[in-house]
Amino acid sequence: MSDPRVITVSGYEQARDAFRQKHLRQALYDAGEVVMADVLVNLHGDDHRARRRLENRLFRRDTNARYERELFPPIVAATLEPHVAAGRAELVSLSHQMMMNLAASTAGVDRPAGTPEETLHLYSYMMRFIEGATLAHYTGDRAAKRAEVAAALEAFDAEFLRPSVRRRRQLLADVAAGTLPEEALPSDVLTVLLRNLDDLQLPDDVVLRETCFYLLAGAHTSATAFVRTLDAVFNMDLAAPEDAARARTDLGFLQRCVHETVRLHPSSPVAMRWALEDLELADGTAVAAGDKVVIDLMAANRDPDVFGADPDRFDPHRATTPGAAPWGLSFGLGMHACIGQDLAAGLDPALTDSGEEHLYGLVPVAVAALLHAGARPDPNDPARLDPESARGYWASYPVRFGGS
Ligand code: HEM
Repeated sequence: MSDPRVITVSGYEQARDAFRQKHLRQALYDAGEVVMADVLVNLHGDDHRARRRLENRLFRRDTNARYERELFPPIVAATLEPHVAAGRAELVSLSHQMMMNLAASTAGVDRPAGTPEETLHLYSYMMRFIEGATLAHYTGDRAAKRAEVAAALEAFDAEFLRPSVRRRRQLLADVAAGTLPEEALPSDVLTVLLRNLDDLQLPDDVVLRETCFYLLAGAHTSATAFVRTLDAVFNMDLAAPEDAARARTDLGFLQRCVHETVRLHPSSPVAMRWALEDLELADGTAVAAGDKVVIDLMAANRDPDVFGADPDRFDPHRATTPGAAPWGLSFGLGMHACIGQDLAAGLDPALTDSGEEHLYGLVPVAVAALLHAGARPDPNDPARLDPESARGYWASYPVRFGGS
């Protein structure tokens, strides 16, 4: 069979249109089915619509507000506390601990021990799942890696998921029997899935993969945005001290710093889709059934027609053209638009009704917690980029707190 024709879309408007095309199907995780088979981001058409409609219930404004104001702050404080007490931290590891804890609570993975060791253990599972989801890029023995990931899924199931399922089934039974009020149920993806198993006809292995997918979709993306935003604020200390001071006191401005960071560094540099039928893109490009469409987010997010003449520069004061989000297309658009966008990055300040209470998002809230604790780069131990990462991930980012 000949290789498919690949059509790359790099302008902002064209990319937006491609995300909205109904006959373009997810293609990014084709080799990652060990983790990604039948998970939300891989479904299409009616199957996607039915699952998304249910899971959307969890990501409503009132639940996001509850997470941001009630459920997350104690998790952020508890994760941060030992590091602040020690006077120092390494941000890459801290960010993963923090976001892993937050993602576990939205996914519905109980944490019986609640210790930093347990977080790291859960994190090592999650990194295996990410390897599974991105097998397409793996250059070693794929079958061996797939078997390793499958074994990790089984171990995670026995250790974390099944006890979490048992606890929720009991709570659901108590609510059904009228001995527990509805509000006592946890607000998490697992509870939503268990409650609607019959409608969705989900077998256990799909529930397992969907929960794992939520862990990796929520944690890794947010952890990366968290470290990169802190780095941007520390850079402003030298280049724009007034802005750096404002980022420490004005959460709305810090939220704009997060949006600008996410625009410049989308979690995946491209989105990919298969054409299910012949179609035409906004700029008139003809796409035939079987073609692959690559949406170049890195380029679209730096389109000067939308983001101005210096789109590569970090500028939290940047004005975009009306209708364009400050984070560009980094949360996707159309049917697969990120379900956790408002939870992670809050509401777009330009679109928030002034009468409503604004949501800032868990990444700005977590970054603010670090800044309020006095985090600053460790002068004796400079941050190092990962030499093996083409995408500029940090290998290590040591910081100090307060006056230590
Ligand atoms: C800075 C943080 C985040 C970034 C940059 C991000 C980015 C994205 C992107 C680009 C997509 C679309 C993928 C595609 O079209 O192929 C997506 C989808 C998704 N994201 Fe996020 N995400 C973030 C945080 C979160 C969080 C916190 C959660 C969960 C709590 C989450 C859950 C999901 C889910 C479930 C989907 C699939 C939606 C669907 O297929 O209908 N994400 N995300």
